[in-house]
Amino acid sequence: MKVTIFGTGYVGLVTAGCLAHKNHEVLCYDTDNDRIKKLDNGLVPIFEPGLDNIIAEGIGSGKLLFTSSPQEALRSLDIIILCVGTPDKGSGETSLIAIESCAKTISDISSQSVPVLIKSTVPVGTSVKIQYLINKGLKERKLDIKIPVASNPEFLHEGVAISEFYNPDRIILGTKDQEVIKATIKLYEGLMPESQEILVMSPESSELTKYASNSFLATKISYMNQLSQFCSLVGANIDDVRKGMGPDPDIAPGYLYAGCGFGGSCLPKDINSLIYQAGEKGRDLSILKAVREVNENQKKYLFSIAASLFSNEFKDKKVAIWGLSFKPETDDMRGAPSLTIIKKLLDSGAKVECYDPVVSQDREKFNIQNESLRLGTDPYEVVRDADCLIICTEWNEFKNINYKKLGSLMNRKTILDGRNILFPKEAALNNFEYFDIGRTSINQR
Ligand code: UGA
Repeated sequence: MKVTIFGTGYVGLVTAGCLAHKNHEVLCYDTDNDRIKKLDNGLVPIFEPGLDNIIAEGIGSGKLLFTSSPQEALRSLDIIILCVGTPDKGSGETSLIAIESCAKTISDISSQSVPVLIKSTVPVGTSVKIQYLINKGLKERKLDIKIPVASNPEFLHEGVAISEFYNPDRIILGTKDQEVIKATIKLYEGLMPESQEILVMSPESSELTKYASNSFLATKISYMNQLSQFCSLVGANIDDVRKGMGPDPDIAPGYLYAGCGFGGSCLPKDINSLIYQAGEKGRDLSILKAVREVNENQKKYLFSIAASLFSNEFKDKKVAIWGLSFKPETDDMRGAPSLTIIKKLLDSGAKVECYDPVVSQDREKFNIQNESLRLGTDPYEVVRDADCLIICTEWNEFKNINYKKLGSLMNRKTILDGRNILFPKEAALNNFEYFDIGRTSINQR
């Protein structure tokens, strides 16, 4: 199929690369001319394992092209996929500027019937709204063509997005239009879930499924995080509790890992948006407000342990941070717990040195300016003379910690493990003070 993708962000590029790999002819359109030029030269602006390769492969085979010309993007095609950003306006309300501008471009320029799939995460009712805008534009041009709009949310996880695109656990399509269903089946041929079925439902249900899924995952995490603090006080181990809960198929093992809080561009934004959407209809999604509040507190939990260890006196203290991204295998720091912890430390007067396997390689990504903050390129260099090491991301390289080297460099041998990646006994054997998330006991603070 000839596929045009609007938006060359994370979802757009993964979708484009994977569809080109499956022999579709993919044209990526973006209004950002510089970005398009870079992509044309094979320069991929985001870090996602395997993405560089499939983009290079697509460019090499001629199956993947880039353009900033809307006329070219809409010249001759079988399907359009919208993957533009839908950021939070700040209040939880989702900005639809980019997606509405896609609708305008499509209705102003298109001259043929073609289905549109919305992959961007959009509030309930957006597909219908975009359909209305496109129909209105076409009517003004007195064009008798059909551009049906459907919702087709993505469920990819950053870090493993490409393998998940090839093996989805479900494909959801919000439409009643038979032509769109047919086109979508053709698009995903060879990329179907195990059931070999596309789940077809109303656009509203499809849009809400996306928010409901991410909010549910966030709820599981906040539940475990809140329990983990209780575990530390009563001698229980959250990891054992997790192992005990997970085998129950009604619970499922995923998203039961306690940590220093969830981050990313999706979970925090989507719970905010769903709370806002419900609020607009006079409904209080209090359960998600609690999830959000627990998460905000959890992001401060490790700082509170450090504060109690140093009796709230951070003036002459240096704290090392390992891991900046919101999770491993990505350079994405949006909503990352590391940012909350760093801010609290700097506000308290501590010196902070950070290391991250990917972010440290690309200083431009790390734009916090503070004279007490340094970004290092070696994990052991940043712990020199530190009074405490805080692990914020579970990168593999942190799991093979060299206690001897670490101990010889640190001023005070203290580790706060925000992702439960080390073994408490091993840390104790190496004479480290060690605190984690709900596995080791702490005295009531
Ligand atoms: C999330 C969803 O999980 C995907 O299903 C969805 O498609 C995606 O958003 C999206 O909307 O695009 P992602 O943002 O890549 O995916 O991040 P996750 O892997 O879900 O992790 C989110 C945060 O939760 C991370 O900070 C992670 O460390 C934390 N987490 C995850 C936990 O603290 N405990 C867990 O058990 C799992």
